[in-house]
Amino acid sequence: MQVSNRAEPSGDSAEAFLEYTTEVAVATKPIFERLRGVLPEIEWPVHAPYVAAINELKHKRNAVILAHNYQTPEIFHGVADITGDSLALARQAARTDAEVIVLCGVHFMAETAKLLSPQKTVLIPDLEAGCSLAASITAADVRLLRQKFPGVPVVTYVNTSAAVKAESDICCTSANAVEVVESLGVKRVIFLPDEFLGRYVASHTNVEIILWRGHCEVHERFTPADVRSYKQQFPDIQVLAHPECPPDVLAEADFVGSTAGMVDHLHQTPARRVVMITECSMSDNVAVEFPAIDFIRPCNLCPHMKRITLPKILRSLERMEHQIEIDPQVAGRARLAVERMVAIGRKMAD
Ligand code: 13P
Ligand code: SF4
Repeated sequence: MQVSNRAEPSGDSAEAFLEYTTEVAVATKPIFERLRGVLPEIEWPVHAPYVAAINELKHKRNAVILAHNYQTPEIFHGVADITGDSLALARQAARTDAEVIVLCGVHFMAETAKLLSPQKTVLIPDLEAGCSLAASITAADVRLLRQKFPGVPVVTYVNTSAAVKAESDICCTSANAVEVVESLGVKRVIFLPDEFLGRYVASHTNVEIILWRGHCEVHERFTPADVRSYKQQFPDIQVLAHPECPPDVLAEADFVGSTAGMVDHLHQTPARRVVMITECSMSDNVAVEFPAIDFIRPCNLCPHMKRITLPKILRSLERMEHQIEIDPQVAGRARLAVERMVAIGRKMAD
């Protein structure tokens, strides 16, 4: 398959038009067959040439593509080598032998990958892919909190900048937040920056939680009335919710967990109708794996996750941009906080 079937009017593959040749159609047919049902057939000629070009180029570059569960199906099923929640992506980034990691997700995820694989080239296809939680707190805020609560350890959600992680004792994700808090063996922790995840942790531990008022702009929009209306319309529905949702939404849910936790739950549940109270691509992606389940799909999309597109991934690999660099002073301390979290995960898995 040729990458050269491209016309490059501006020399910029994100703008360029890639042709849907017979060769591309044949090579990508098995991928489209998996996506049938979640992606309209009429869209495939637009995506397929990029899928083919990216899959060819990533091998030449000895690159691995990591994609978060909120990436669109053509990325998630079309080009990603490894998919998962924040914790899985962090762990896999540390394990891969590839020289290059392309992180299809948001900036803090790419920074976390770089922290755990400092010798590798870590690329993010769009540098502006941020996160409202990461934007809610600065390193200076954490230093002030430490002054206000001397001696109280700081547990920081991975949805933060490396500079904030560097001021923290340990990181957590939504998959392990309770375990991380309890691992410290203290009576009180400062939990940053997600208020709702912090409240969820507080409801599952006796450790006192000092909160920060950061919110996810996607999950904070769900309401208990939304959940009740799904239940009224579909009495047999099972409700899975992400712990970044407000507490009154979580109270209506049948299961609360990280995006990977939701997938694990789907493997076990006998439910045939499910709604996942989380970002909208999640249902599209898992629907491929669970054809027997009818997914009701609320559409709250994350504008940051949606900045990552196939043309930008191709451009990223072509130009080896945008490379994640972290100030070594910051990186050393931030890495410790992330590695402490990963070590707890290992102990739990043993
Ligand atoms: P997960 O770790 O559950 O995938 O969550 C990441 C995230 O950004 C949720 O909004
Ligand atoms: Fe951040 Fe929310 Fe988007 Fe996740 S869904 S990246 S927490 S803004």
